[in-house]
Amino acid sequence: MSVLSDVNEVAARVRNAMYEGPVTPYYGLNLDDVYNVLQGALASEIICVLRYQQHYYMTTSMHQNQLQGLFKEHWQDEQGHQNRIADRLQQLGGVPDFNPEGVTARGFSTFESGIRWRASYVKTYSRSAS
Ligand SMILES: [Fe+2]
Repeated sequence: MSVLSDVNEVAARVRNAMYEGPVTPYYGLNLDDVYNVLQGALASEIICVLRYQQHYYMTTSMHQNQLQGLFKEHWQDEQGHQNRIADRLQQLGGVPDFNPEGVTARGFSTFESGIRWRASYVKTYSRSAS
């Protein structure tokens, strides 16, 4: 067997592996564990998006426009993370779980609504906005 035929054989294997997707025989991780971690991360990102959206709409202060800009930027960042995780789940053969039922149980983040978050966030973000 010549070096050239080895290269052709390797190239053919690589091409075939690419068609099989990201989970190769060498992947090495337990896919159920990977799905569980990614589902938890996805739920956390969903919670973060919702939390920043609530902060956006609840913001009232003399820095309202700046604060809303920050919160909107945060929620868009979190949506980007959410999309990337959902893409990765799909690539690995999983099903991204966007069902709102159980999101807080699956996620690693908490959703704080109402007055509790307001004092600390407005104080923190007012400092960074000014
Ligand atoms: Fe995030």
